[in-house]
Amino acid sequence: MLPDHREEKRGERRQHGLGDGPPVEVGAAPAGGEAAGFQPRITAFVCNWCTYTGADLAGTSRLHMASNVRIIRLPCTGRIDPLFIIKAFERGADGVIVSGCHPADCHYTLGNYHARRRFAVFHDLMEFIGVDPRRMTFSWVSASEGAKWRDVVNEAVTNVRALGPFEAYRALAPEDAGVAAPAGSSAEIEAS
Ligand code: FES
Repeated sequence: MLPDHREEKRGERRQHGLGDGPPVEVGAAPAGGEAAGFQPRITAFVCNWCTYTGADLAGTSRLHMASNVRIIRLPCTGRIDPLFIIKAFERGADGVIVSGCHPADCHYTLGNYHARRRFAVFHDLMEFIGVDPRRMTFSWVSASEGAKWRDVVNEAVTNVRALGPFEAYRALAPEDAGVAAPAGSSAEIEAS
């Protein structure tokens, strides 16, 4: 049982579609996804210095957006290994977002340049093996771009909802891989 003030905060967040509670419907859903009440699970790998702060700004500004996204905060996009994305799909994500500081704004100077090259190659590789590129969103969101983060999230949710659950990929995953934390959980991993 949470203390009263935390319960109140949760209620407020639910009301604004910012975190806990049922995800907010965004955009037009396809026949299949909507009929099945499909709510995509999106894992977002974001850098600590820009996108995480931008996402926080979107929350504190009470911007209305889908709450299907679970954020994993890392120091820099340069720290995001493509294997993290594969692991996310394996563990139940239907889509993935990778986002960090704009080029030339990286806190570690070159991290996002490394990330940009890495993900360009990874993107082609995923397409080659049959993963629809619309399941992956790459973007740059600065600390002051709360509205852009909202748009990135809403667009990713709409795209992934149109594609439906990523069952085909999960069928390939080993049985003990488990699944992503259920919607409504507040799991957040901080890596150093
Ligand atoms: Fe944000 Fe490097 S610190 S991308």
